[in-house]
Amino acid sequence: MPEQIVILDFGAQYTQVIARRVRECNVYSTILRYDTPAKQIAAMAPKGLILSGGPASVYAPDAPLPDRGIFKLGVPILGICFGVQILGQFLGGKVEKGAKREFGKGTLTVKSRRCPLFRNLPAQLQVWNSHGDKLTRLPRGFVAVATSDNSDYAAIEHPQKKFFGVQFHPEVAHTPRGKEILANFVRGVCGCGREWTMRNYIDQAIEAIRTQVGRERVILGLSGGVDSSVAAALLHKAIGDQLTCIFVNNGLLRAREAEVVREVFGRHFRIKLQYEDARALFLKRLKGVTEPERKRKVIGRTFIEVFDAAMKRVGHAKFLAQGTLYPDVIESVPIAGNPAALIKSHHNVGGLPKRMKFKLVEPLKCLFKDEVRELGLELGLPKEIVYRQPFPGPGLAVRCLGEVTPAKLQVLRRADAIVVEEMKACGLYYKTWQTFAVLLPVRSVGVQGDERTYDWTLAIRAVESQDGMTADWVKLPYDLLEKISLRITNEVRGLNRVVLDLTSKPPGTIEWE
Ligand code: XMP
Repeated sequence: MPEQIVILDFGAQYTQVIARRVRECNVYSTILRYDTPAKQIAAMAPKGLILSGGPASVYAPDAPLPDRGIFKLGVPILGICFGVQILGQFLGGKVEKGAKREFGKGTLTVKSRRCPLFRNLPAQLQVWNSHGDKLTRLPRGFVAVATSDNSDYAAIEHPQKKFFGVQFHPEVAHTPRGKEILANFVRGVCGCGREWTMRNYIDQAIEAIRTQVGRERVILGLSGGVDSSVAAALLHKAIGDQLTCIFVNNGLLRAREAEVVREVFGRHFRIKLQYEDARALFLKRLKGVTEPERKRKVIGRTFIEVFDAAMKRVGHAKFLAQGTLYPDVIESVPIAGNPAALIKSHHNVGGLPKRMKFKLVEPLKCLFKDEVRELGLELGLPKEIVYRQPFPGPGLAVRCLGEVTPAKLQVLRRADAIVVEEMKACGLYYKTWQTFAVLLPVRSVGVQGDERTYDWTLAIRAVESQDGMTADWVKLPYDLLEKISLRITNEVRGLNRVVLDLTSKPPGTIEWE
């Protein structure tokens, strides 16, 4: 087990961001619920604790409070926002509702130049606040090390115990030097080295996979997406031919997607790949289906059927591998007012039913998405796969409105390839959450050459997002849009009009169906 920092989650929107920032300092971090028993934390031998922010008030009757034993573990503690109020409440200070709430940008003035949290940082720092309560009396043994316009105790320190508290949020991008403050805590105060790197993780993961799997066989459903691809490459490095990947071509993939998977995994990595060409079956099942939810159900059911049959052909395997990530396994803290509690992962059409009795191998389940990408590059996967934009399980079917037919899919696939090609050519593709084409069931009159046409309409959708839960439409440059539109109407038969989707999420969803 690498050296680690334990983060106690009091229901903050930013707890995962704290964990990611710590890991960016090359120190492993684990998120635990706020009420995890101190004994359990001690057994993990953390080098330090971070108490997250949270929406509650420490003095509220139902406030989420930690086990008092955490203050006796003998390890450094950093309380952030609500976390500093926890220090106040438990260690003899006083927390009250502030006369003025502090939201947004603020200036921190560091008074104590000796405080290790602010080592190598200037005396004035831009910070980001989000709190209504504030500390009005210091807990015992603490000194104030920094102030803000609104508080004499914006940062506090107990030098002997190595307990620290900051009222602002060092983890967010709006505190530009915040990562250095966290690095000062985890490395300078807690003494962690730079052990957590994806290069080190590979060795550790390989050993864990080999121990778990022994000589048994493992099946992995490979979609070509980032997570399953990285899981495949990692498992293959660990257990070679004991791994078989099943790749289902449902006929709803984008241009060259199936070929890339076969080239990269079959030919380059030489992974045992069971390629299921189920294009005809999916299209047959989708015939006449127009209602979006029914489409999704038909595709989901057919996928399970095809995957099931493929597994039987592969033969007995004791393990099923999945590309589960850390955010999927963190136990969320159900505290009212915490938007993170509402954000759940998307319905995944590729999900397999519970009746399939396998033991699970989940080699990415302690990693965040950016770490998975880094791991993928370290394992030698191409950028095209590692930085692939998210693509929905039901594929082009949810971008081909109305009935899905082979002819419409062909038109959509060609147009989509042009959108992607041009986005890549101008360097915007990898900077955007998603960019794709949608085929609308709208025909309109056009004129191409001397001919009157009556053809389909294509919408271009480009969105920026952090997690797919909310999104902003992207203001693509006009000359890029012009080039895309020109190429599509010239090169793709069946289209005579291109429109741009100007809808954010909410109110629109990212996909059109
Ligand atoms: P919506 O359309 O709900 O999509 O705004 C949010 C994000 O989720 C993706 N998406 C899916 N991903 N299976 C998936 O794995 C699905 O069935 C599915 N439907 C939507 C979508 O591309 C966007 O990134």
